[in-house]
Amino acid sequence: MTISNTKWVLKSRPSGLVKEDNFELITEELSELNEGDLLLENQYLSFDPTQRMWLTDLPGYLPPVQIDEVVRSGGVGKVVESKNDAYQVGDLLTGLVGWQKFCQVSANVLPFFRKIPDNLPIPTTMNVFGSTGLTAYFGLLDVGKPKEGETVVVSGAAGATGSVVAQIAKIMGCHVIGIAGGAEKCQWLKEIGVDDVIDYKEENVPERLTQLAKNGIDIYFDNVGGPIMESVLFLINLNARIVMCGSISNYTGENLPKGPMNLTMLIIKRASIEGFLVLDYMHRADEAYTDLIKWVEDGKIIHREDVQEGLENCPQTLNRLFTGANKGKQLLKI
Ligand SMILES: NC(=O)c1ccc[n+]([C@@H]2O[C@H](COP(=O)([O-])OP(=O)(O)OC[C@H]3O[C@@H](n4cnc5c(N)ncnc54)[C@H](OP(=O)(O)O)[C@@H]3O)[C@@H](O)[C@H]2O)c1
Repeated sequence: MTISNTKWVLKSRPSGLVKEDNFELITEELSELNEGDLLLENQYLSFDPTQRMWLTDLPGYLPPVQIDEVVRSGGVGKVVESKNDAYQVGDLLTGLVGWQKFCQVSANVLPFFRKIPDNLPIPTTMNVFGSTGLTAYFGLLDVGKPKEGETVVVSGAAGATGSVVAQIAKIMGCHVIGIAGGAEKCQWLKEIGVDDVIDYKEENVPERLTQLAKNGIDIYFDNVGGPIMESVLFLINLNARIVMCGSISNYTGENLPKGPMNLTMLIIKRASIEGFLVLDYMHRADEAYTDLIKWVEDGKIIHREDVQEGLENCPQTLNRLFTGANKGKQLLKI
């Protein structure tokens, strides 16, 4: 039986927000599986800011998506055909499935896919119990090393990663200041227990940080890049840790990144700034999930997913991350 696959391929490199004509939705017949391979029917796609970087022809931690290649993205697919004894029809797998209806997984890339439990809602396994949760957990705990009583500032605080970071920081006994765009997101942050919030779209961030971080800043978990770093650096305490998780304000190529002019604060305060990638922590995932599952069960971590629908809506869904339209982890149900 031949199966037709529908997929989005990249046709031109976007500038700014993506446009539908940067891509083409095409249909093609799939070839037969080889021994060891699987065929997945994609159920949900994950939308991550890093995807926008993969569309740009710049060096990154993964090569750029090439013109006429399927758009790379994480997601969850259900096995509909298996030529591999370790996988049964019906198993759910997560990995780089791409913007497409089906994903053929060859045996050599299977190690980069992971089975997910079928007793949890799939959106949750793609958020707090997926790489988003791992990013927050290891970024804050391993890189940031929070201690009780410290002040933690989180940018992109109402987002998928930022909201989990903020809540883990609360669990660790820290004073948490969340920075997010808009009244709804700031209100939600207060509801989930963030001590203080700054609406960066309406308020003066340097002034508000100075008011709120009365005891200085011990950890800055940066999800957005841009000018907030400079305001934070003026307020850091001795041995502060700056965790570079992401820089979404620079990903669309519209704003050229500018460095902070006060990096000498790192010397004065013997502070550190460190980037990390969640991929380096995958082998420790179970350690994180044990805590994350317990914290969610105990109501200490609240999570929300923003689920769009329809493969045809992939380009618009990616843009939601960059306009701030997403309320929680951005997903798309196929
Ligand atoms: N290092 C790693 O391994 C790793 C892994 C996963 C994610 N990340 C990074 O973590 C960050 C958050 O990712 P996520 O998946 O959790 O997405 P997210 O925070 O759920 O969504 C992105 C949010 O970024 C904010 N934003 C967009 N453009 C902005 C701008 N110009 N200035 C300030 N804020 C802006 C928007 O929130 P507002 O409405 O509040 O503006 C938007 O909702 C990204 O930078 C991502 O690259 C890093």
